[in-house]
Amino acid sequence: MTTLVVGASGATGIKLVEQLLIREQNVKIVVRSAKKLPESWKNNERLQIITASILDLSDLEIATYTQGCDAVASCLGHNMNFKGIYGQPRKLVTDTTRRLCSAIKENTAENPVKYVLMNTTGNRNRDLEEPISFAQKCVIGLIRILLPPHVDNEKAADYLRTEIGQDNQFIEWVAVRPDGLINEDKVTDYTIQPSPTRSAIFDAGKISRINVGHFMANLICDDDLWNKWKGQMPVIYNQSTKN
Ligand SMILES: NC(=O)c1ccc[n+]([C@@H]2O[C@H](COP(=O)([O-])OP(=O)(O)OC[C@H]3O[C@@H](n4cnc5c(N)ncnc54)[C@H](OP(=O)(O)O)[C@@H]3O)[C@@H](O)[C@H]2O)c1
Repeated sequence: MTTLVVGASGATGIKLVEQLLIREQNVKIVVRSAKKLPESWKNNERLQIITASILDLSDLEIATYTQGCDAVASCLGHNMNFKGIYGQPRKLVTDTTRRLCSAIKENTAENPVKYVLMNTTGNRNRDLEEPISFAQKCVIGLIRILLPPHVDNEKAADYLRTEIGQDNQFIEWVAVRPDGLINEDKVTDYTIQPSPTRSAIFDAGKISRINVGHFMANLICDDDLWNKWKGQMPVIYNQSTKN
């Protein structure tokens, strides 16, 4: 099986790629620079490194890179500096999702391709009645105005939910929603819920990036797990997060 990963140079993207390589998957990554990547990756025969900024690629190039892939995963996120938050591309995650999905549709593969999007618990799954308090609604409204990357994350998941939908011939998707991200070296126990069990704003839990990578890799490799979560927006917490 081959997976294309975008955002592979990021803190979570690196963990996802490592988890896929542990599972002996073939992986293609598109990164702006190979400098941040682990040295061992450069001689790994299972890994193809494409050095490019994803949105600078032509439609034909994106179609070529997605061709033959069983899964595509995005760990993209805006860099947390002024340029990353307020500069272009404002719709990095949404436009990348849209263009990768268009390419997947163009490729007309025999079996549906799995699309795994790294999203956030700050976003609601509007297919479900996910209750949030009035105070949280107000804060999220403010975040939408002040932090464009949040809107981008919401739109990317909305695109999968409403435009790809539940019954697409060429694409199946899961939008994984981590709570507060932390760094840990080892995979630990974690829980997966269909919806948040705590407030993402006033009572955020924790999840390690390696656990997010582990779950995303399992979704890609394990069809039973995939069938359980496809078309949904599972929320992931470290087991050790106190309730
Ligand atoms: N922080 C949290 O607690 C939290 C919780 C839930 C969800 N999230 C979401 O998860 C995302 C990923 O988290 P992370 O910590 O793994 O992020 P990260 O380390 O900042 O990684 C972001 C990735 O996106 C790439 N990228 C950024 N701007 C780009 C551009 N203009 N063109 C192409 N690639 C670009 C980066 O590439 P370069 O290496 O080239 O910069 C990097 O590979 C966050 O951004 C957020 O949306 C965060």
